[in-house]
Amino acid sequence: MVEVPCIEAIGLTRQFSGEQNQLTILANLDLQVPVGQSVAVVGASGIGKSTLLHILGALDKPDSGTLFLNGQDVFALPDTQLSRFRNQNVGFVFQFHHLLPGFTALENTAMPVRISGMDKNQARDKAIAVLERVGMSHRLNHRIGELSGGEQQRVAVARALVMDPPLLLADEPTGNLDVKTGSLIHELLCELNAEKGMTMVVVTHNMQLAEMMQRQVTVSEGKLILEQ
Ligand SMILES: Nc1ncnc2c1ncn2[C@@H]1O[C@H](COP(=O)(O)OP(=O)(O)OP(=O)(O)O)[C@@H](O)[C@H]1O
Ligand SMILES: [Mg+2]
Repeated sequence: MVEVPCIEAIGLTRQFSGEQNQLTILANLDLQVPVGQSVAVVGASGIGKSTLLHILGALDKPDSGTLFLNGQDVFALPDTQLSRFRNQNVGFVFQFHHLLPGFTALENTAMPVRISGMDKNQARDKAIAVLERVGMSHRLNHRIGELSGGEQQRVAVARALVMDPPLLLADEPTGNLDVKTGSLIHELLCELNAEKGMTMVVVTHNMQLAEMMQRQVTVSEGKLILEQ
């Protein structure tokens, strides 16, 4: 039996209106990622890495193309079902975190668990466990504005992982971290990939992290190509 890929993107095109003309950032891009594979997306600023990741996380719609996540045609889902599907299936680390500033590290991390319907105590326990894994146990009750950039980044990673998603999409998850803390996160991602078969697509400028992933790709002329 052929296993359904975790990600199957077919003919993704995404255009933006520029000052004078249309910008085509993704042009008929195809991508297949089998369950359990780890993929690094590398390459220069502005080539469309975040644009691609947002579409793969169904946070942004392509102008054309189809996206199946675990066999589900995600853009065919009505909005409420899509939100639920994302909550259960996709952990997303944004390049600029998007944490809720008025809430603490613990509250931000527990939020997806609360949204999924679990009770407060379960959400709290799960959030504490994952914050510990990213080295943030000592700042559970700090509000986001009281955390350093690297600490915020680790909370963003914890929030993405707290639901144990089958798919993790991470946009430069260690961009603000020193070498030692960055390595802690790199090792955590590799452990989750090995232990739980978590599929992951990670945008990174960090070559050490890119090399830890099983496959390295980049965007060229709107399409994905294997990195040499
Ligand atoms: N909403 C938008 N409207 C217009 N142009 C956009 C929009 N979003 C992205 N772009 C353009 O699309 C291109 C790709 O942006 P994207 O954020 O995907 O790049 P990136 O590869 O993630 O870069 P970086 O490494 O700097 O994060 C950029 O030139 C950007 O200006
Ligand atoms: Mg980006």
